[in-house]
Amino acid sequence: MDEPVDLDLASLHPAVDDPALNSMNFLNEVAQHWPDAVSLAAGRPCEEFFDDDAPRRWLDRFRRHLVEDLGQRPEQARRTLFQYGRTKGVVHQLVARNLAVDEGVHVDPEAVVVTVGCQEAMFLVLRALRAGPRDVLLAVAPTYVGLTGAARLLDLPVRPVAGGPAGVDLANLRDQVRKARAEGLRPRACYVMPDFANPSGASVSLADRRRLLDLAAEEELLLIEDNPYGLFPAGEQGRLPTLKALDTRRRVVYLGSFAKTVLPGARVGYVVADQRVAGRDGAVGLLADELAKIKSMVTVNTSPLAQAIIGGALLEHDCSLVTANVRQRAAYGRNLRHLLAGLARRFPAPSQVGWNAPAGGFFAVVTVPFPVDDALLRRSAERYGVLWTPMAHFYDDGAPVNALRLSVSAVTPDQIDLGLDRLAALVADELTTTGSPSALVNSDAVR
Ligand SMILES: Cc1ncc(COP(=O)(O)O)c(C=O)c1O
Repeated sequence: MDEPVDLDLASLHPAVDDPALNSMNFLNEVAQHWPDAVSLAAGRPCEEFFDDDAPRRWLDRFRRHLVEDLGQRPEQARRTLFQYGRTKGVVHQLVARNLAVDEGVHVDPEAVVVTVGCQEAMFLVLRALRAGPRDVLLAVAPTYVGLTGAARLLDLPVRPVAGGPAGVDLANLRDQVRKARAEGLRPRACYVMPDFANPSGASVSLADRRRLLDLAAEEELLLIEDNPYGLFPAGEQGRLPTLKALDTRRRVVYLGSFAKTVLPGARVGYVVADQRVAGRDGAVGLLADELAKIKSMVTVNTSPLAQAIIGGALLEHDCSLVTANVRQRAAYGRNLRHLLAGLARRFPAPSQVGWNAPAGGFFAVVTVPFPVDDALLRRSAERYGVLWTPMAHFYDDGAPVNALRLSVSAVTPDQIDLGLDRLAALVADELTTTGSPSALVNSDAVR
């Protein structure tokens, strides 16, 4: 006899049955089920750069830093590493120095909260901003699914802002803010990824970054800037300043991750929240301190051992992750260029297949003249041996999207070639079975 059930899914928080929370599991399941398929789906960093000896060395390096630079006695340093610790973290000064060195961002280390990955940082910020049922979050679409999932768990509705080839459609952002307000809602912030976004690959120009900051000030809106890929431009061009580097009015809450630049397994990220918060008694504090209160009830503190590994890596490179990631940047750039050239060879113009040409990062988006859904991904895995991500996963409304995301971070150029050959075979067969509409797909307009 079947075991009786104890709980009904419908009695749990509705988010657990939401597509946003099922997305990562589904994609992982497909990858596990067809382990031999070439994966142009995984957005993980390349494992070739993992060095077995480095974490031990970094841990020791950070321990020496505690004693030699910060003047802790050996037993204090031991406690810093092994005990429960400061809620806002123990590598905050190194994070602040890294931001100054690599980004020209100068922040008070007290405004930094070190988190369990960037994912926790998102959760803390959204938790703090969601004060009541009128609060909504705006997010540039397509949107990273981790953000949408966190918002779901917090009962915070996410309203899309058009992204488009410019990375963010500023007129649409203003419209969305005003529309929400006209409906009696309170748009608390707009989530944006100005550098090589996941999943679109799009970047925001310098002029638009300035306009975005002006708009945020005019509309009294916070911007949540997420920047996990900014250190990986594909060409020789310089990097653009982050929104936070241009932010003179404290409109930007900045999210950082060490997953792509040091080690994903350390699970360390951070948030810079230097916004000044007026308390009931007239005292003024930092938003970071309010986030720390929330953190103390979510993860207590980020593992100091994990922080020490990141701290040691920062110290080893004089706090420059640009310097630490020279080989990574070259490899990811090479792969992205290889992908774009490979697409051009396999789908010569005029073609019904289009794609964008990101200036860096891990991802590019391919548009096709047929809907791309999970069933097609399964077929692609089973019959063609190639994995990719349906772009529908990054939109909130579940509507079909004629586009898929390709990732180049965890593959070699040979695997990219093999994956593209297989993708081209799938596309050719789909065009034969679905019939080919005459209109050319605009390569930049994902949607
Ligand atoms: C845009 C974006 N934000 C945040 C994260 C999560 O970062 P972390 O691994 O530090 O939690 C990812 C991971 O892929 C990402 O793509």
